[in-house]
Amino acid sequence: MSRRRQIYEGKAKILYEGPEPGTLIQYFKDDATAFNAQKKGTISGKGVLNNRISEHVFTLLGTIGVPTHFIRRLNMREQLIRQVEIIPIEVVVRNVAAGSLSKRLGIEEGTQLPRTIIEYYYKDDALGDPLIADEHIACFGWASQEEMNDIADMAVRVNDFLCGLFAAIGIRLVDFKLEFGRIWENDYARVILADEISPDGCRLWDMTTNEKLDKDRFRRDLGGEAEAYQEVARRLGLLPEGENSVLDLDQHRAKRGK
Ligand code: TMP
Ligand code: ASP
Repeated sequence: MSRRRQIYEGKAKILYEGPEPGTLIQYFKDDATAFNAQKKGTISGKGVLNNRISEHVFTLLGTIGVPTHFIRRLNMREQLIRQVEIIPIEVVVRNVAAGSLSKRLGIEEGTQLPRTIIEYYYKDDALGDPLIADEHIACFGWASQEEMNDIADMAVRVNDFLCGLFAAIGIRLVDFKLEFGRIWENDYARVILADEISPDGCRLWDMTTNEKLDKDRFRRDLGGEAEAYQEVARRLGLLPEGENSVLDLDQHRAKRGK
């Protein structure tokens, strides 16, 4: 098989040239990083689970009319996506205080917020993805006002939908991060949801026990991260009971060198 052209390698994913113009292949790695890659590790099987979870969530979002880059899953670790021009902003939606919000403002983790907060971070590893205001986005031209309106509207819709999706399986959606990209149609740019939605970029707490089912297990050295990701996939109905998990299949394939 001929090697595909690699377009970009990030901390948790690799992008390859896709089969048709305007498409890319998104490969999900097991690599995990935290604190701007100061902490590095691997979560065995994470790539397989995130590929599957993100496929599921993006497909559902598509059915309620949220435009996304997702086209179809290709195999255990890869999905076909539309090529976008990534908008260099990480959009964080928060329902419950946790993480950097709790630290920055001294609000106890787990405090239900009286209203949902949307925050923007400038996507720049060298600067450590600093928190920014709308004013910075407008001033430096990272996105237009119209694009930011679309982004905020989509973020709210995604949040409403995901809160319900997770609540139905006993999971509290504490917060999550979204990324958006532009696609060009003739001379017009349209903003669509890009990247992934998985336990890497969400805080997911069990509703009864408050157990963390997300990357905080890795960030905070709690252990059991692979099991936590698997539990999310299982509750979403992506790991059929009684069948060997996708992880077993992936490991089996890896052993056979495929
Ligand atoms: P924070 O509380 O550390 O700002 O994180 C808020 C949410 O955003 C949390 O669900 C994790 C996610 N996130 C990312 O996906 N990537 C990042 O680089 C950071 C800092 C957070
Ligand atoms: N994106 C972070 C990093 O740079 C990881 C995280 O905390 O989610 O390593």
